Amino acid sequence: MKSPVGRLVILTGAGISAESGLGTFRDRDGLWTRHDLSKVATPEGFAEDPARVHAFYNARRANARAAAPNAAHLALAALERRWSGDFLIVTQNVDDLHERAGSRNVLHMHGVLEGALCAGCGHRWPASAVMAADDPCPACAAPRTRPDIVWFGEYPYQMERIWQALRAADLFVAIGTSGTVYPAAAFAQDAARAGAECLELNAEASAVASDFHALRIGPATRLVPEWVAEWRDGPG
Ligand code: APR
Repeated sequence: MKSPVGRLVILTGAGISAESGLGTFRDRDGLWTRHDLSKVATPEGFAEDPARVHAFYNARRANARAAAPNAAHLALAALERRWSGDFLIVTQNVDDLHERAGSRNVLHMHGVLEGALCAGCGHRWPASAVMAADDPCPACAAPRTRPDIVWFGEYPYQMERIWQALRAADLFVAIGTSGTVYPAAAFAQDAARAGAECLELNAEASAVASDFHALRIGPATRLVPEWVAEWRDGPG
């Protein structure tokens, strides 16, 4: 049994929420097989047709609100509670299943479905269930409301904090991400270069599986609880 101490950085992708019923992007029936991402997940798509973009995220927000955290989310929250040292979940996911499972240190690098952002003044506020572009900004009243989501072509949130954590990490674990979107796809390389042990947990090998020291294949709801069970109950 390993002692749950040290600096742990976990990267999660859509695969950790797949068994909660939320779609992934690039699997067989993934979101990008049913939607043109340039129309619903880019600033240009929003400028062209904000109603179409809001409809896409309103539907995803409703799905996320109806979903429940699964055994993988819950296992990570349990590990964090007994972890002694730095513990950070960097998620590419915009759902709040990690938080609803009880995780505390969660960083959403691609934004959050539960956030609204004013394209005029940059003010943020909690999203309503159904959002529209002409919802007035509570701060400047501009009718330029967008989902607080990082779109393709935009810069992910809190990258300096993420790189700092990767440079200091003893262990980096990627769960349920295809390794096809940067900068997250390079995080294993960044962590390994700094001396971290890198583990990938995925239903199938990602595009960057060779960047990891170890790879376990299977559903997250089995792999994550099994991996968490390898850590003893206390740091002592
Ligand atoms: N258990 C574990 N892994 C799974 C499961 C599962 N039940 N189901 C799917 N996966 C894995 C797939 O093997 C794949 O590696 O989850 C990954 C899903 O890949 P993507 O759909 O590309 O999702 P993700 O890697 O999170 O995408 C990254 O791309 O479109 C952008 O901003 C979006 O955050 C997203 C980013």
